[in-house]
Amino acid sequence: MTWLITGGAGYIGAHVARAMTEAGERVLALDDLSAGVPARLPAEVPLVRGSSLDGELLKRVFAEHAVTGVVHLAARKQVAESVAQPTRYYRENVGGLVTLLDAVAGARIERFVFSSSAAVYGDPGADLITEDTPCAPVNPYGETKLAGEWLVRAAGRAHGISTVCLRYFNVAGAAAPELADTGVFNIVPMVFDRLTRDEAPRIFGDDYPTPDGTCVRDYIHVADLAEAHLAAARRLAGGGGTGDLTVNIGRGEGVSVRELITVIGEVTGDRRPPLVEDRRPGDAPRAVASAARAAAELGWTARRGVHEMTESAWRGWRLHHGS
Ligand SMILES: NC(=O)c1ccc[n+]([C@@H]2O[C@H](COP(=O)([O-])OP(=O)(O)OC[C@H]3O[C@@H](n4cnc5c(N)ncnc54)[C@H](O)[C@@H]3O)[C@@H](O)[C@H]2O)c1
Repeated sequence: MTWLITGGAGYIGAHVARAMTEAGERVLALDDLSAGVPARLPAEVPLVRGSSLDGELLKRVFAEHAVTGVVHLAARKQVAESVAQPTRYYRENVGGLVTLLDAVAGARIERFVFSSSAAVYGDPGADLITEDTPCAPVNPYGETKLAGEWLVRAAGRAHGISTVCLRYFNVAGAAAPELADTGVFNIVPMVFDRLTRDEAPRIFGDDYPTPDGTCVRDYIHVADLAEAHLAAARRLAGGGGTGDLTVNIGRGEGVSVRELITVIGEVTGDRRPPLVEDRRPGDAPRAVASAARAAAELGWTARRGVHEMTESAWRGWRLHHGS
């Protein structure tokens, strides 16, 4: 097998490239470097600089490298930006996927892993979200991921491509400091950013119907997430994966914003009390995965906890932000 990882120089893509390489898989990365950093990739992983919207380039890359499987992570991923620029999100996340799947079908590639998101569920109100919980995304980003899943499954059926859609919950941490997420879009880097500015962390709403009133999420270490991709790729390569599979990738354990800020205080030594502000529109009170299907179908379970995630993220933050 030779796997192409789109978005391979990104935060998650580089972790996937590393985990798959260390496990002995042959991989190459495609990235337009709009958010990617080539230095994140292991030295033995070739990087093709270009876009997944470029069908001619994909055709060439598939032929030149004899690609037999694709792990597709390249996408725009910021919820607020997707609300402001929905056509861009549909063009790049859904349109880009159309181009990619056409090229995959044309090259007779039969294995495809798609990077989806818990954002497909919206605010389902379930205690544990299973893959059968109805999907009702509440922003264009989540819509593009759900439409992407439909497209992946339909193309899979039409062209004999075995597919796995991985619905990631809240990703955090780093397998090594240099692989850390450098963006400030998720809660862990947002809290680090406040502390680095000598400001108290913010909690958006503490009157939700949850045990401590703050939103509850399922945090997953990016190194565990990378291993889930390896498990998905191996299932497809082993032929055990004909048809399509859709799986939640989470720990099945809820952590509230207040609890997470307490852990961050322990890790950073900065325990200043958080400021409570108004709720943000669109935040679901609770989003926690049922992790049962991933265990049953992929033989994969997350191993790393919230403390380890936060510590590794903090080491990465200090490397990149010098605090
Ligand atoms: N980070 C999270 O919490 C999270 C949660 C759920 C799902 N996801 C999904 O995981 C994937 C990776 O996310 P990430 O956090 O690593 O983001 P990222 O921005 O770090 O990585 C995306 C990579 O794709 C590249 N890219 C973007 N558009 C491209 C294109 N058209 N062609 C080629 N390369 C392109 C970027 O340069 C970047 O390197 C995305 O599909 C995202 O929607 C992320």
